[in-house]
Amino acid sequence: MSDSLIQGLRQGKQAIAIIGLGYTGWPLAVALSDHFEVRGYDSSTARIELLNKERAGKQKTSTRKPSNEQPPKAQDLPSAGLALSCSEEIIRGAACFIIAVPTPVHKNNAPDLHSLETALLTVGAVLKKGDLVVIESTVYPGCTEEFCIPLLEKISKLKVNIDFGVGYSPERINPGDTIHTLSSVTKLISASSTQWLPVIECIYSSVIEAGLFVCSTIKVAEAAKMTENIQRDVNIALMNQLSALYEKMQIDTSDVWQAAATKWNFLPFRPGLAGGHCISVDPYYLLHQAQQFSFSPTLVAEARRVNESVKSRIVNRVLAHLESVGVSVPHARLLIKGISFKPNVADVRNAKIVEVALELLQMGCQVELSDPIADTAGLQKEYGLSLIDEEKGLYDIVIVAACHADYNTLNEDYFCQRTPALGLIADLSGTFRNTITKRTYWTL
Ligand SMILES: NC(=O)c1ccc[n+]([C@@H]2O[C@H](COP(=O)([O-])OP(=O)(O)OC[C@H]3O[C@@H](n4cnc5c(N)ncnc54)[C@H](O)[C@@H]3O)[C@@H](O)[C@H]2O)c1
Repeated sequence: MSDSLIQGLRQGKQAIAIIGLGYTGWPLAVALSDHFEVRGYDSSTARIELLNKERAGKQKTSTRKPSNEQPPKAQDLPSAGLALSCSEEIIRGAACFIIAVPTPVHKNNAPDLHSLETALLTVGAVLKKGDLVVIESTVYPGCTEEFCIPLLEKISKLKVNIDFGVGYSPERINPGDTIHTLSSVTKLISASSTQWLPVIECIYSSVIEAGLFVCSTIKVAEAAKMTENIQRDVNIALMNQLSALYEKMQIDTSDVWQAAATKWNFLPFRPGLAGGHCISVDPYYLLHQAQQFSFSPTLVAEARRVNESVKSRIVNRVLAHLESVGVSVPHARLLIKGISFKPNVADVRNAKIVEVALELLQMGCQVELSDPIADTAGLQKEYGLSLIDEEKGLYDIVIVAACHADYNTLNEDYFCQRTPALGLIADLSGTFRNTITKRTYWTL
């Protein structure tokens, strides 16, 4: 079955459908379209319109930049062979389906599988004998076998491994990172049965230069993705906790990191807000699934709690400063620079600094947000907030959160122009450490 599918794909007689053309699905669709017939489906009309405009070369940049936040270059734009649509009909007749839809959490941090479920229903409705479905969305270990496959079987009335195959291959791109890109990071692949591995290898090896790693089971691939992100979350939490302690002990935290980093095996993590749609989401997927096994991974839960508490630490520092300089909350003017979830990306989903801004606004502070690249539409849609067009006057506090490359030119003169003599510069990443001498300086 897999030999004829590989042949069909290579000869362009069989098509690959990508479901979900966002930060991960779009670059994959573009890359695969150089080698195969690819059909892209996204349920968002606006998204398809934007991508079609980019493809037509009418718009080279977008507010929501895919592919590691770089606007697609002309040579990266998909050929006419890549059909895009917001109609499900486009995927009918395809032989391989790659699902890259969002897997966020609900307000109570339980996995929100709604988009994944809808995508599976769409694929299940057109699935035929001999087809392959690969899931790329981040999910908890067991989700593909216990949630996705039964749903596909129910809708299609076909049997996995007898009629169709399923693979799981987590997306591992690092937003904002131009070195570790889709093609330069080893791709984990796994399948419901080894008979499908040659097809999955055929598809991904065409675009992944770094090579493929075959996981022994689908659950291993799912757990590997969880583990990568949870490891980061726990390490960042440790630095956040130590940073809070050292501040109380009046020890310069940045000096500590610098000194500790001289040991060969010190891991250079820094304290921070640890937001975004991976690090601040994936631990909750594992925590949810752990409940089924009556096991509580307390370290994972505590790391998330510690990282979430950084927001309060920032709010408390702001309030303490205002009190110390005699500025009442309603009169306080604050400027927050760099509001996306990490430097050099436009994505504002789960941007924890925006939650800090909302809390301060709710308390009555006047908070202005500034960012050269943030997704303004997303900011409005997710949080009902806007960016200022221009920084005006003096701010009692300037917070530099996501320190975008554009901010590299900022210096003490700039901060002195923006703040009064008793102003505070809260430089969360420590970028301007040792350069601010005329204002109160604070970092995590
Ligand atoms: N963005 C990243 O850096 C990154 C990195 C690693 C893993 N991931 C994972 O990849 C998955 C996708 O994330 P993303 O960042 O690409 O999401 P995204 O929000 O950027 O894009 C998802 C797209 O899917 C579309 N969509 C939603 N439901 C759909 C449906 N039922 N049918 C068709 N289209 C649908 C949306 O309109 C959107 O355009 C998530 O599980 C995420 O955790 C993302």
